[in-house]
Amino acid sequence: MVLKPKIFVTRKIPHQALSYLEKYAEVAMWEEEDIPVPREVLEKEIETVDGLYCLLTDKVDEPLIKRAKQLKVISNMAVGYNNIDIRSAANHGIIVTNTPDVLTETTADLTFALLMATARRLVESQHFLHQGKWQSWSPMLLTGQDIFGATIGIIGLGRIGEAVARRAKGFDMNVLYYNRRRKPELEARLNVQYEPLNDLLAAADFICILTPYTDETRDLISDEQFKLMKASAIVINTSRGGIVNENALYRALVNKEIWAAGLDVFEEEPVPLDHPLLTLPNVVALPHIGSASIQTRVNMAVMAAKNLIGVLQGNPEDASIHK
Ligand code: DGY
Repeated sequence: MVLKPKIFVTRKIPHQALSYLEKYAEVAMWEEEDIPVPREVLEKEIETVDGLYCLLTDKVDEPLIKRAKQLKVISNMAVGYNNIDIRSAANHGIIVTNTPDVLTETTADLTFALLMATARRLVESQHFLHQGKWQSWSPMLLTGQDIFGATIGIIGLGRIGEAVARRAKGFDMNVLYYNRRRKPELEARLNVQYEPLNDLLAAADFICILTPYTDETRDLISDEQFKLMKASAIVINTSRGGIVNENALYRALVNKEIWAAGLDVFEEEPVPLDHPLLTLPNVVALPHIGSASIQTRVNMAVMAAKNLIGVLQGNPEDASIHK
């Protein structure tokens, strides 16, 4: 009898993904839906498994990886994998996989929704109405910024950046982008224009952060960068919190160096409720829901399951290995 490989899943995942895993492996799962697996449980489980199925809320660092005795694959149910020490995994011969593509359009939708909500003060307007403050239509009541025809600066023209650029074109926006590597093919196809970072920051009405979180992009947007922006600029971050320095963002908003911010991600998640940014009416804050459509989350979960099994069955070419 051939023994099935052992897998640990760090959160309750959709049944479509779980049943796929169970066909090929002996699966143990942390059954909670909303509470991350405690570190000590993870430390114990990782010692004996062949595959780890994890989320962006699990810190898979060197001390954890070192405990693994037979781990071959870490499958992250996310496109971002800054929660995993990929160098350490590689040093231990462990393959790390992620879930690109399946969440691109959904995350671009949310990015655009957040941009629109922030520009047109949707959340603030709803609070205003619910609080009984609406006395009359009035000429400048709750006025925001125009989206149609404005300039958007996309920082990070990867898959999601490109999908946001397509949406922006539908709103007749002028699209600028900054990326580590220029993309002439996309420039021609989408009619978007490359700008050095500082020039983009100075020219854009909307600045969308869509670059991966790495040592290079930590605090990419801080005091110096905010000072370059227009006083009417709106910053949207749907990537990772640490790319925008939150203290600097708070200062820029309070000092009216920029107009508003839409944030789906934070340095610390869940963001503490007493965080200064949450006190500002011109900050729209969401609980990291970029990819949260039912279909996309199921697709991500199944893709992560297939990635993991693909590697365990010796077919890493079927898996999305992180790049
Ligand atoms: C990711 O996949 O990295 C997102 O942040 C969650 O979908």
